[in-house]
Formats: sequence, C-alpha cells, structure tokens
Amino acid sequence: MTLNEMIYHRKSCRSYTAEPVDAETLEKIRAFEMKPLYPEIKMKMEIVRREQVMSFLKWLPPQMIAIYSEKADGYLENVGFMFQQLDLYLQTLGLGACWIGLGRMHPKTAPEVDGMKFVILLAFGHPQGEQYRHDAAEFRRKSMDKIADRDDARLEPARLAPSGVNGQPWYFAHEGDTIHAYCGRKGSKLDVGIALAHLYIANEATFRFFKAENMPDIPGHRYVGSVDL
Ligand SMILES: Cc1cc2nc3c(=O)[nH]c(=O)nc-3n(C[C@H](O)[C@H](O)[C@H](O)COP(=O)(O)O)c2cc1C
Repeated sequence: MTLNEMIYHRKSCRSYTAEPVDAETLEKIRAFEMKPLYPEIKMKMEIVRREQVMSFLKWLPPQMIAIYSEKADGYLENVGFMFQQLDLYLQTLGLGACWIGLGRMHPKTAPEVDGMKFVILLAFGHPQGEQYRHDAAEFRRKSMDKIADRDDARLEPARLAPSGVNGQPWYFAHEGDTIHAYCGRKGSKLDVGIALAHLYIANEATFRFFKAENMPDIPGHRYVGSVDL
C-alpha cells in the first residue's frame, strides 16, 4: 500500500508482540524523509526502548520514537505534520503504530537532546491481530459539516486523521480554493498538523502551506495556517 492508500486503512495499534523490530527496519525508519511545515524549526527523533519510557499503559511495544523539538512558533503542528507521515510509513512496512500522549521519558535514561523539548511518543512494533481497516465506515469521525464551512471532498483525508482522544479539533474554512485551518480551543495544534499531513500525502505534488496575514478568528478557534492543494 502507498502512504496515500494507508490514510483509508490505518488504525492505532494497541496490541503488539514482544518481538523487537530488527535493526535493518529501524535503519529504514531513521532514513524515512519527512516534509516539515516549518523547515527552520529544529527537531529530533530518537528510537528508545520501552524501559526508558514512563507510562501507565500496559500494552506498549518494545520500542518507541521519542520526538523532541525546539519550542518555536508552530512547533506542535510541525511535529504532528512530520510524524504523521512516519505513522503512515510504519504501517506500510507492516508494523503497527500509535501516538502516545500518555507517556514521557524516564529522566535517568532519557537521551541527550541539546536543549530541545520532549513533545510526544510514537509507539510502533509488530502488531498482534488485525492491523488495517477495510473501509471508511470503520472510522469513528465527525461528519464533514462539523469540520468545514462547506462540503469539500478534498478534505476527506483530513477528516479521517487520528487525534488525541479522537478529539478532531480541526476546522477548515474556504476562501476561493484556499483552505484555512483552525484549531478548536480545547484541542492541540499537533492534531491539526496531523490532519494537514493527510492533505499533503493526498496532494503531494501540489500541496503548499502558508500563514496568511490578519486571519479572522473563528469563535472558539485559533488560526493554524492555510493550504493550497
Ligand atoms: C496526539 C495523539 C496522542 C494520542 N495519545 C494516545 C495515548 O496516550 N494512548 C492511546 O491509547 N491512544 C492515543 N492516541 C490515539 C488516539 O486515541 C486515536 O488516534 C484516535 O482515537 C483515533 O483512532 P485511530 O487512530 O484508530 O483512527 C493518540 C493520538 C494522537 C493523535
């Protein structure tokens, strides 16, 4: 499956075998190139062992990706955008994956990350049981009219994106062909970055992200950025 096809079949994996992912696959994961939203924001990923992570979750796999970033404007949506590409890639390798907000690095064994802030974990490993969804009806998601000011089939990949506690805090407003992305007040901009990653993967050749000036606030929302697809 391609990354684009994976948008319609992926799901969070919460059941893994105890078998660690082999060194050759780890190398492929490290070498995977992710497009950033903000190329100037420094970030770093480290593949860490389960024992280095503090979390009450019992089902975590033997290895995870710890994501660090410089804390600059836009860093949360940048992390969501980049690592959702990796989430899709991991699943094309036949691995299971799940974003983990409920975990952090053990201070004694945390890797050195030159001044960057720990942001979040992405768990991955060999899945136990059924790994893919078969069709869009298996996604529990808000309807298009709840997430956009008009029906737009181009937004379907964003509608299906994963988010923390499935909050789906994104809202999309149109101005001509441009789509302005907003984040609900209770949501994280990281989730909106994830939704934008699905728009990028679905429109790889033409996707353009930019910040428009003086965007109006939509009540209860913060402006994140705009895309041409
Ligand atoms: C930023 C973020 C943090 C998440 N944190 C957790 C977590 O700590 N534990 C967990 O079981 N799932 C976590 N998830 C997975 C979401 O619950 C899941 O993506 C959402 O319910 C949609 O389901 P799906 O990914 O299977 O489509 C997280 C997802 C995101 C995007």
